[in-house]
Amino acid sequence: MSAIETVLKEDRVFPPSEEFVKQANISGMEAYKALCAKAEQDYEGFWRDLANEHISWHKPFTQVLDESKAPFFKWFADGELNISYNCIDRHLKDKADKTAIIFEKDDGTSEKITYQQLHDKVCEFANALKSLDVQKGDRVIIYMPMITEAVIAMQACARIGAIHSVVFGGFSAGAVKDRIKDAAAKVIITANESVRGGKRTPLKATVDEALANGDCPSIEKVIVFKRTDTEVAWTDNRDVWWHDIIKGQSTVCEPEVMNAEDTLFILYTSGSTGKPKGVEHHIGGYLLGAILSMNWVFDYKPSDVYWCTADVGWITGHTYICYGPLAVGATQIVFEGVPTYPDASRFWQMIEKHKVTTFYTAPTAIRSLIKLGADLPEKFDLSSLRLLGSVGEPINPEAWMWYYEKVGGSRCPIVDTWWQTETGSNMIAPIPGAFPTKPGSCTLPLPGIMVDIVDETGNSVPNGQGGSLVIRRAFPSLLRTVYNDDNRFVSTYFPEEFGHKLYLAGDSAARDEDGYIRIMGRIDDVLNVSGHRLGTMEIESALVAHPLVAEAAVVGKPHDIKGEAVVAFVMLKGDRPVGEEAQKIAAELKAWVAKEIGKIAQPDDIRFGENLPKTRSGKIMRRLLRSLAKGEEVTQDTSTLENPQVMEQLSQSI
Ligand code: WTA
Repeated sequence: MSAIETVLKEDRVFPPSEEFVKQANISGMEAYKALCAKAEQDYEGFWRDLANEHISWHKPFTQVLDESKAPFFKWFADGELNISYNCIDRHLKDKADKTAIIFEKDDGTSEKITYQQLHDKVCEFANALKSLDVQKGDRVIIYMPMITEAVIAMQACARIGAIHSVVFGGFSAGAVKDRIKDAAAKVIITANESVRGGKRTPLKATVDEALANGDCPSIEKVIVFKRTDTEVAWTDNRDVWWHDIIKGQSTVCEPEVMNAEDTLFILYTSGSTGKPKGVEHHIGGYLLGAILSMNWVFDYKPSDVYWCTADVGWITGHTYICYGPLAVGATQIVFEGVPTYPDASRFWQMIEKHKVTTFYTAPTAIRSLIKLGADLPEKFDLSSLRLLGSVGEPINPEAWMWYYEKVGGSRCPIVDTWWQTETGSNMIAPIPGAFPTKPGSCTLPLPGIMVDIVDETGNSVPNGQGGSLVIRRAFPSLLRTVYNDDNRFVSTYFPEEFGHKLYLAGDSAARDEDGYIRIMGRIDDVLNVSGHRLGTMEIESALVAHPLVAEAAVVGKPHDIKGEAVVAFVMLKGDRPVGEEAQKIAAELKAWVAKEIGKIAQPDDIRFGENLPKTRSGKIMRRLLRSLAKGEEVTQDTSTLENPQVMEQLSQSI
């Protein structure tokens, strides 16, 4: 069976219940088609009306789309707004006392804050940032645990027009340093420690390490939130406590008037070459994407209790925790912990406790919870749920069915949402009151999103045939550039081969006979490990930075729970190690990668060879390595290899 046949084999169809359709924001296929038709006929008018309807503008825009410098597109370019105003202030008229955030701590206790309280805290902290001379356009790194203050910090930056760049709390000092330097950040906001799954991680100490030796001269201040009682080392003049700097600050801070095309944030993500890229999103278009998908895909209702389990260190946590839910005035959960602590029923317990209606998580979490307790959801009252979501990687039909039946009681539509850091918001996803869903398919593009699947020449491929996923027209929430690297933006996303006209997603996909899309995986050297994006080159660079390593090649192999696992093929400077020595060095290299990048990038499997298989022109034969990693029979021609026994060596796991 070909790869496409394998991914298309699931053909059950699950229409939404009549009850769901009746209450849905978009009911029935005709309503969806009408929206798509409007976008087809009058693309700018379509986006203009939505932007006017959903965003509170300080000054309305007159021009919708400026394509004069394509692919550097501008949306609503002369409009003025503030995203923090849109997320908080505009709700105070009628929702001041509505719960904005239910914060559930790692230990199971929870606290609530209302929109009014959120407003006051964001203003206080925004004023504190100003007191440290943080100004419009300055870059601020946020390296925080998953606590309410992470959202407050992001909103406060947005309120004063500072550009935030959130770095996932699991990244190492090296990764933090790279991001600080690339962004030339002025301030970093962190916590003394994070608390997850009963374990504490020293965030402030990691920041100290990143800033050691005067490596990051742009940083003027380190703001430290005191999450635990643990003492931390202190650098006077540089370090300040969060609780000290908010003391005496006013709870009023006028939102800075921003242009729709001012930068909201930079978020670093892995690509196929070199260092992570700073994906840059601008305010107006990004906000519109977040709001529309909350309404269309999550079918948002004011009575919802919404919970997205992502970390704010990733795009999902930006759009579907910090901005989207707040922009529509939702009550949402911010969760500090992990799904498996104190045991594998944590998610189900929390859904029961907080009467969650809308639950958005990743396939990797679903798969691990099936493994740890497939029957656990039955022990809880999950009847509050009305909609389930999945994001970050393909969801296999088995996991989809379990999620649908055991968690959703065969009652809740599943929205399998395909999108990327670069697209800012959901692109291909079910409209739950309109589309029948199919396990393993993210279904159809959202209205106005001109998705296509093309061959190498940019021509559409017929249904049933795989190809490269592209988007034919620019849309508001698309990234604007790669921070400080316009050339990389163009060559990566609007490549020459498609005449700089198509947005290249980097995924392969196929449509079935109904036009439903299935994502088959990345076509570049990007791995998706537990829904986290990792560049093979990044891990290779980390490995070759180790004094023992001469050369390294990294590929992925399928993994039951993580989706993909990291396999590293390594050639040392000295002899190929065997036995205990090989084990010792493999362990050392794993720890090294964890230190250089973060634990998420640590190879699962390291294999040593006297050399690596290369083509005549000296390129590493990655396809062959992928076969070796999977334990498949090697079908590629290996006759040109200088040292044929290397194949035998590299097929051995340590
Ligand atoms: C993958 C995460 C299949 C895809 C929001 C994409 C998916 C990459 C899905 C982006 C999905 C995301 N089905 N694959 N529903 N959602 N992906 O930037 O390969 O962390 O290109 O954004 O994740 O990862 P990123």
